[in-house]
Amino acid sequence: MHTPDRPAVAPVLASVDDGIARLTLNRPDKLNALNYATIDALMARLDAIETDPAVRAVVLTGAGDRAFSAGGDIREFSGSVARGVAAATQEFVRRGQAMTARIEAFPKPIIVAVNGLAFGGGCEITEAAHLAIASERALFAKPEIRLGMPPTFGGTQRLSRLAGRKRALALLLTGERFSPAQALEMGLVNAVVPHDELIPAASDLARRIVRHAPLAVSAVITAVTRGLNMGIAEGLQVESEQFARMVPTADLAEGLAAWIDGREPLYQGR
Ligand code: COA
Repeated sequence: MHTPDRPAVAPVLASVDDGIARLTLNRPDKLNALNYATIDALMARLDAIETDPAVRAVVLTGAGDRAFSAGGDIREFSGSVARGVAAATQEFVRRGQAMTARIEAFPKPIIVAVNGLAFGGGCEITEAAHLAIASERALFAKPEIRLGMPPTFGGTQRLSRLAGRKRALALLLTGERFSPAQALEMGLVNAVVPHDELIPAASDLARRIVRHAPLAVSAVITAVTRGLNMGIAEGLQVESEQFARMVPTADLAEGLAAWIDGREPLYQGR
């Protein structure tokens, strides 16, 4: 039954198949624009997935045939902007930055399947995710400059780290659209596939990861994500710490023993 504080249609759909969660941004009539309810729902879904040992990876995509996401919900955040700096920062910027930071640091791999438009926040989610596959129908843009503002969900920070300062600045300062081929070339996505093969390709990539020890997968994500924002000496320290965390685990003993025995490892996630 529909109640006022519980929307009839979930803003983020979730299903699990063979240990891989599929999350779907679900406002297709608004091109999956990221209103506050959608961001909060995505965060809640990630909270549930983090503590569920049965889920090993996430494929994140958008509902409908047009968009992954057209970015922050302009009508909604205009209201926050109208209420001044404190409201705009708290309600809009902090919420969006928390979402992309959560995606970036999530301990299980998150693969974005870019099924259409990825503008603004949709592009920023793609930047923050560990991996991304784009449909040939995907289209990217950093259009915030056209609204008279810089990006606010990490979009001034992560793209320049991924693609280099000048390539990022050209996209950030013009707001012009760019193709999946350009996204591939600059390292924003890992692959571009025919539209019908998008979810199978993302799921296949997830399966090729989740066959490995869960703690080791998480350690790799942590070491790369934290290390990228550090000097090499500090990053090597993080790498060493992540390895040290694996030393007492049953799964490292199993991985080494299986190799020595010439058999497939059987991991237990501990
Ligand atoms: N915020 C809020 N609503 C959005 C939205 C956004 N970012 N992007 C699209 N929508 C809504 C439209 O208002 C429209 O709703 P309506 O049918 O109730 O009027 C619906 O989604 C479909 O979008 P529409 O603009 O009609 O589609 P289009 O094909 O003509 O244009 C875009 C597509 C992506 C070019 C256009 O929607 C757009 O410019 N969106 C904003 C992109 C942006 O600047 N994102 C960064 C925000 S920080």
